Amino acid sequence: LKVGVLASGRGSNLQSIIDSIKAGVLKAEIKIVITDKAAAKALDRAEKYNIANSYINPKIYENKSDFEQAMIDLLEEHKVDLVVMAGFMRILSPYFVKHYRNRVMNIHPSLLPSFTGLHAQKQALDYGVKVAGCTVHFADEGMDTGPIILQATVPVMDDDTEETLSQRILEEEHRIYPKAIKLFSEGRLEVKDGKVLIINN
Ligand code: GRF
Repeated sequence: LKVGVLASGRGSNLQSIIDSIKAGVLKAEIKIVITDKAAAKALDRAEKYNIANSYINPKIYENKSDFEQAMIDLLEEHKVDLVVMAGFMRILSPYFVKHYRNRVMNIHPSLLPSFTGLHAQKQALDYGVKVAGCTVHFADEGMDTGPIILQATVPVMDDDTEETLSQRILEEEHRIYPKAIKLFSEGRLEVKDGKVLIINN
């Protein structure tokens, strides 16, 4: 499986995917890491493991579709089968989504459909939920929407801060993202009526 990773920041989810591949658990190859931020730590991580990486500056493009076309060109050049958004802080256009329909995954630090968008963990704390978690889903043209692949829950503690809760959720992210990609690589994810069926689960 040839994977392309889109990231904007720290890249800890990228790291979990790299680790899973290195451990021989996930049979895949990250062909390219693309960021929309020059300072994204994800670029350093890619560099460290000799993974092709590219910063694409959105500001030099006239519009969103030109920027996305530049990403698609790179992904196609690397013959990517699956696009993995790992902390990529942009919403994909319908054009991009159509191009990679059910071949783009995203991870979000909440139990979707609750708490979409930014600061999902803080939204969960502010609401007072007793369980929180994360979701891996196929991305559609909405914000944090699309067929759900895997979810994991964590308890919310009375003394949690945004940081402690985020950390607890992040550990689950690092567990389920490689797992979801593995299921995809094994051809075990089927999308039917907007829902994901896991074959032989
Ligand atoms: C993660 O919490 C992810 O769920 C969210 O952005 C964060 C990215 O973290 N979409 P990292 O860059 O993978 O460390």
